[in-house]
Amino acid sequence: MKRLPTNVDGLDEVLGGGVPEGNIVLVSGAPGTMKTSLTYHVLHARALEGVRGLYVSLEQNRASLLDHTEGLGYRLDDTGGKLSILDLGTLRKKLTGSAEQPWMDLFKLYTQGIRKSFDYRVLVLDSLDALEILAKFREPRREMFSLIRWIRDLGCTTFLLGELPADRIIGADPRRAAYAKHKEDYLVDGIVHLRLVRQGEFGMQRQLRVVKMRGTRHDTGYHALVFDNGFRVTRGFA
Ligand SMILES: Nc1ncnc2c1ncn2[C@@H]1O[C@H](COP(=O)(O)OP(=O)(O)O)[C@@H](O)[C@H]1O
Ligand SMILES: [Mg+2]
Repeated sequence: MKRLPTNVDGLDEVLGGGVPEGNIVLVSGAPGTMKTSLTYHVLHARALEGVRGLYVSLEQNRASLLDHTEGLGYRLDDTGGKLSILDLGTLRKKLTGSAEQPWMDLFKLYTQGIRKSFDYRVLVLDSLDALEILAKFREPRREMFSLIRWIRDLGCTTFLLGELPADRIIGADPRRAAYAKHKEDYLVDGIVHLRLVRQGEFGMQRQLRVVKMRGTRHDTGYHALVFDNGFRVTRGFA
């Protein structure tokens, strides 16, 4: 099986080399848990190796996203055009008479359309929740099912970002915890959960757990996630 390395030390070991190509992975976590940063890191690292990636942003405009990622040390210029950002909100504003353009159509049109000139192999959707809200899902479970099937047909390795209330999982029985609102956790091939945990009196530790990854034997415990000039996952609670 071909795998897409994440270039996160420790995480690729947990995943047995990376994410199986073509998997759809839900990256779930509360705001500030570095979902954006971590998935951008994967795109950036792949792009440096010549693998094209598309970052579809609905949460932040391009300038705000780049401000953040360049601040982390990921220079878009270094990727030689192999990493592309689709700022759907700004795009929609620019389209004349687009006020009525349904978000879901726009998302599909551009995500599909870009492929003709830019054949990306990795896709990040930031975020699934924003798309759901903007597209005004009336029957969330059915529409989520159909969206994920559509994404699957793209044939890319995909990261779907999901916001989750901070207290949704912590303390819950991990076997029964839900990682998504509309059962998308059953539809996706993988789930990576990010969280911030109180450490000591004042500190917080970032943690990551691979909840599920089809085609992979992985350990399912939480590991420390550290960012300093790149990401690192350390076994146990180092
Ligand atoms: N230069 C930096 N170095 C380390 N951490 C940073 C840096 N800049 C921002 N952060 C951290 O990144 C967090 C935001 O990460 P982000 O990927 O946007 O989270 P999410 O997408 O999950 O909301 C901030 O709350 C801050 O803790
Ligand atoms: Mg984000």
